[in-house]
Amino acid sequence: MSQSYDVIIIGAGAAGLMCAMEAGKRGRRVAVLDHAKKTAEKIRISGGGRCNFTNIHTSPANFLSQNPHFCKSALSRFTPSDFMAMLDRHGVTYHEKKLGQMFCDESAQQVIDMLLKECADVGAQVLMETAVEDIQGGYHLKTSRGDMSCESLVIATGGLSIPKIGATNFGYKVAQQFGLDVLETRAGLVPLMFQADILEHCKSLSGLSVEAEVRCADTIFAEGLLFTHRGLSGPSILQISSYWREGEALEVNLVLQINVQTFLKTYQGKQDVPTVLADIIPKRLALAICDEMKISGRVAELSGKNIEALAKRINAWSVKPSGTEGYRTAEVTLGGVDTDALSSKTMEAKKQKGLYFIGEVVDVTGHLGGFNFQWAWASGYAAGQVV
Ligand code: FDA
Repeated sequence: MSQSYDVIIIGAGAAGLMCAMEAGKRGRRVAVLDHAKKTAEKIRISGGGRCNFTNIHTSPANFLSQNPHFCKSALSRFTPSDFMAMLDRHGVTYHEKKLGQMFCDESAQQVIDMLLKECADVGAQVLMETAVEDIQGGYHLKTSRGDMSCESLVIATGGLSIPKIGATNFGYKVAQQFGLDVLETRAGLVPLMFQADILEHCKSLSGLSVEAEVRCADTIFAEGLLFTHRGLSGPSILQISSYWREGEALEVNLVLQINVQTFLKTYQGKQDVPTVLADIIPKRLALAICDEMKISGRVAELSGKNIEALAKRINAWSVKPSGTEGYRTAEVTLGGVDTDALSSKTMEAKKQKGLYFIGEVVDVTGHLGGFNFQWAWASGYAAGQVV
């Protein structure tokens, strides 16, 4: 005997749980299936355990997609305020850390508990450790808990990042099975790696962070940059990684709002170059740069050529990443189910009635700072109104 539901959602993450509670509120009989042991692991580990659950400045400009307009409808119908109102109802307190990024005061687990409570209140079943072995149109599923059927099937299996906590390419395979295009996927919001010379420089400065401006073609982010023993990381690097393509160089300004050429040319004192540079960048960095460029002695003795070279090295450091750290450490997956194949209002496949895709599996990827969860909530909410 097949267990029958109105709605089956595959993936008990952010998007899947939001969709389940919304569909349940409409009286739909809902089951959420997930192969993992624990529910919504990515929520639990997000934001350093405090979950950066949204960004109050969310706008379509914070998302990458082949169709930048696709996210607009869903984002306008479930906003950051809507999510915060839900947290308020559950007594979960939160704060803005910076740049509109909203975090729980206590723990990310509170967000998971809230979503599970909302699901339980409307009778939506969350069935963990359930593998889906086969899907046939209609929809009939073979699962490790037996056969199941449903009218609406929602794919909320997320992207490929962090396979060790359950990420798979399941959603992309289902899309292909039903004839939807899947755009090339790549790791996003991910640290960048470098060849030997720059890597050595990064290693020697490992742990040091500066406020930097990082540019890739026309895109610029000004946020923290962190030197690590594997290369470069920190918010500005993670942000630009989503725009960077193999073979491209990045331009890094290691000191905001100071023109190093003017600064050095107008310097009047008698001190040596590293000491003077240490007024505007961390001393370790100043020493490393002078060492690398074989520059020593007093500022007054610097040639025009050396001033220019130093200014370029600090204000417009050109670095070519050799790659990214990949899905092992990426926060998100770029690309995914082609939005052309989906309704932006409902997330339903245009040519496959009753099949929906929500959350990160879709080709909509947010910047760092709470935008990816906002997309998960908003797309889950949109589908939840109609499934
Ligand atoms: P999500 O990945 O949450 O859920 C997918 C679910 O599907 C999982 O439970 C998985 O087990 C299940 N699944 C996968 N394959 C399956 C299969 N074959 N069968 C059954 N189930 C299957 N974003 C943000 O806005 N703020 C933040 O602070 C952070 N922080 C952060 C930290 C880290 C370390 C990572 C990796 C990511 C973030 N993110 C983030 C990104 C955010 O976590 C992500 O975009 C959302 O969780 C996506 O929600 P989904 O529901 O689409 O997928």
